Amino acid sequence: MCQRLVLVSALLVLAISRGNCTAKIAPDFIVPCNNTEPACLIKATQDAIPEFSKGLPQLGVPSLDPFIIEELPIQLPGIKVTFYDGKATGLKHCEVLNVEAYLEKNIFNLEVKCNITIKGKYTAVGRLLLFPINGEGDCKIKIINSVIKLNIKTKYFKDSANRDHFGIKSYRYTFDYGERIIYTITNLFKGNPELSNTVLQFLNENWRIVTEEFGQPVVDYALNVTVNTAKKFFDAVPYDELLYVPIPKY
Ligand SMILES: *[C@@H]1O[C@H](CO)[C@@H](O)[C@H](O)[C@H]1NC(C)=O
Ligand SMILES: *[C@@H]1O[C@H](CO)[C@@H](O)[C@H](O)[C@H]1NC(C)=O
Ligand SMILES: *[C@@H]1O[C@H](CO)[C@@H](O)[C@H](O)[C@H]1NC(C)=O
Repeated sequence: MCQRLVLVSALLVLAISRGNCTAKIAPDFIVPCNNTEPACLIKATQDAIPEFSKGLPQLGVPSLDPFIIEELPIQLPGIKVTFYDGKATGLKHCEVLNVEAYLEKNIFNLEVKCNITIKGKYTAVGRLLLFPINGEGDCKIKIINSVIKLNIKTKYFKDSANRDHFGIKSYRYTFDYGERIIYTITNLFKGNPELSNTVLQFLNENWRIVTEEFGQPVVDYALNVTVNTAKKFFDAVPYDELLYVPIPKY
């Protein structure tokens, strides 16, 4: 009798805790705003970034910090660079400058300031600025105080359980390279460390021009991954767990 009671209460506890788990999908660090005032959205986004960047494996959301770059080929006029075995870090410390959501107009704007370090291996063949390059080695790119403005066109959709979700239809961005970018690249000229160092120094002195050539494909790639990661999150977590504002008719 007593044993049965224990069993029944154990099952009850199990049922209740399971009920709790399935009721809410959003992780606890998500604090929904009651309105779309930028002040609340900025704080909620800022508070979510450190945990969100670690990844949410239970929701199929990969890590953004560190963020693994297995292989990124960059074909530019005159030079082919392949970046591989790479890792980008720093996203979890991004400072949120602004967040705007216009639910009716399907507009979501995000502005962040970040320090990002990208480390990995590379091969490069071709010409860069004035120099013929044939290199293979390690490289590190340190981006200081870059400002990224992301303009997202959103949409809404229902999942198979008939719950509403945010969706991302398309996006545009602007990227301000910030105060400084520091390149540390070894072996730009195979077997000639002196020339490699001289050219590296030149690249760093002219980092703005170098970055304008190089930066675009890298940033395109990084933002594509970031937006796709956000999509996975929005696919998993329903609208009403992210924002306590009635969803517009759609
Ligand atoms: C939203 O309103 C609820 C109830 O008044 C409150 O507990 C909660 O803190 C508010 N959320 C935010 C992010 O201000
Ligand atoms: C980026 O690094 C610089 C220099 O180390 C620091 O002053 C700045 O506060 C950092 N910015 C962010 C957004 O972490
Ligand atoms: C963006 O990422 C998706 C999947 O992650 C990929 O299919 C697509 O080709 C990428 N687009 C660009 C422009 O890199």
